Amino acid sequence: MERVRRTAEQRRRDIQANAACLGIDDAYVSLLVDTFYARVRSHDVLGPLFNDVIGDEWGSHLSKMKDFWASVAFNAGRYSGTPVPKHQALTNVREEDFDIWLRLFRETLEDTAPTPEVVPYFMKRAERIATSLKYAMFGLKDLLRHKRAG
Ligand code: HEM
Repeated sequence: MERVRRTAEQRRRDIQANAACLGIDDAYVSLLVDTFYARVRSHDVLGPLFNDVIGDEWGSHLSKMKDFWASVAFNAGRYSGTPVPKHQALTNVREEDFDIWLRLFRETLEDTAPTPEVVPYFMKRAERIATSLKYAMFGLKDLLRHKRAG
């Protein structure tokens, strides 16, 4: 048990050290999240999708998203939320809105990344999560539509 725990702790340290080499740490995650959501909030299409739900709670949303990205990027272990049901409740969001989200996220990374490797590092993870959220939100609907059409 002790050995397993040490190994997991060592793994977390290795992931953090590797991310830190690329310039990914809490300070960068904070800059990325603040810059990205400032752009989201003033975006013609994405802005209303977020503002209508988040309202006056942007402060707590941003700190939650910093914990989320620190956990995804370097295993910080500070996020324990429920993204799937939260997104399933967003009935105004269309599948193609995810392409807009991903494009804006890439642009933000390209404008802020401390090293070039940071862009694919985050994009790989964002695309994987976007695919699973889209599947959770639209998977069944698409399946039923195809069934009906066929
Ligand atoms: C068009 C695409 C998207 C839209 C419109 C959207 C919108 C939202 C909104 C409105 C919330 C707040 C929900 C609430 O507090 O009830 C939220 C939460 C969140 N979103 Fe998204 N989102 C999108 C894509 C993504 C993607 C691609 C990711 C990850 C890569 C992501 C990660 C999260 C996380 C972690 C939360 C916090 C969930 C929790 O409360 O624990 N979202 N999103």
